Amino acid sequence: MRLLFVCLGNICRSPAAEAIMSQLLENVGQSDTICDSAGTSSFHQGEKPDKRMRAALEARGYRYRSVSRPVTPQDFYDFDLILAMDRQNQADLKRMCPESHLAQKIKLMCEFRQDKSVTEVPDPYYGGTEGFDHVIDLLEEACRGLWAFLQSRRH
Ligand code: 4NP
Repeated sequence: MRLLFVCLGNICRSPAAEAIMSQLLENVGQSDTICDSAGTSSFHQGEKPDKRMRAALEARGYRYRSVSRPVTPQDFYDFDLILAMDRQNQADLKRMCPESHLAQKIKLMCEFRQDKSVTEVPDPYYGGTEGFDHVIDLLEEACRGLWAFLQSRRH
C-alpha cells in the first residue's frame, strides 16, 4: 500500500501527515505501507518542512524526512491513496488527475476522522504557532482512522 499526502506547499500539513502516519506504521510494525507527500504547487520545491512545523513535530517526538516536491501525473499511477488536506487541494488534484478512473484514489484526509465536526486540515502557514499544534492534533486522529480503514481492507 502506498499513501501520498498532499497540501498546497508540501512544507506544513502534508509533511506532518507523512511523519505521523510513518510513525504510526512503524509502531505497529507495518513496513509494507509506504508514505510520501507532495504539494499541488511547486512554490517551496526542495525545501524542508517549515521551521514552525519542524518544531511542533519535534516537540511530540516525530521525525520528518520530506523535501518539498510538486505532485506529478505519475503519482496517480504509483500511489493507492492520495490524501488531500483541504477541499482546494482535492479540487486541484482532481484537475491534475491524468485519467478519470484514477480520481477515485483522491480522498479528503478528514474523511478518516471519527469526529466529523472538522472536515479539512486548515492551512497554518499565515497563522500562529497554535495552528501547527492544531494541525498535528487533527492529523493524529485522521491517521488512526486511516490505519483502521487500511486494516479493514486487508481482511
Ligand atoms: P502547506 O502550507 O500547504 O500546509 O504546506 C502552506 C505553505 C506555503 C504556502 C501556503 C500554505 N504559501 O503560500 O507559500
